[in-house]
Amino acid sequence: MSTLKLCSVSEIPDNDVKTFKIENKDIAVFKVEGEFYAIDRLCTHLKGNLAKGKLDGKTIKCPLHGSVFSLKTGELLRPPGTVAGWFKKAKNTHIYKTSVKDDFLYVEIKE
Ligand code: FES
Repeated sequence: MSTLKLCSVSEIPDNDVKTFKIENKDIAVFKVEGEFYAIDRLCTHLKGNLAKGKLDGKTIKCPLHGSVFSLKTGELLRPPGTVAGWFKKAKNTHIYKTSVKDDFLYVEIKE
């Protein structure tokens, strides 16, 4: 496991998101109520861009077919709401542990 520096904490305003491609991972980092949440940027259903999704508290709704994921746990809280969901199921997404040190944001990547 490695801990990697992503950016200065000031680069992600509250209720906003920033994306990173690092160590072959494609990660979206959301900031909600002062806390950072890092998840895979692409939806587990059909790779919708969760960074373009609708943030609602500590959940993110996929812009393509409406799956909702917990930013805290990665749990799939609501499956795709369209016919596309009948053909391919969504599943829980991957989350990454974040930390802040000296005003910089870090993420833990398992190798
Ligand atoms: S791609 Fe995200 S719900 Fe379909």
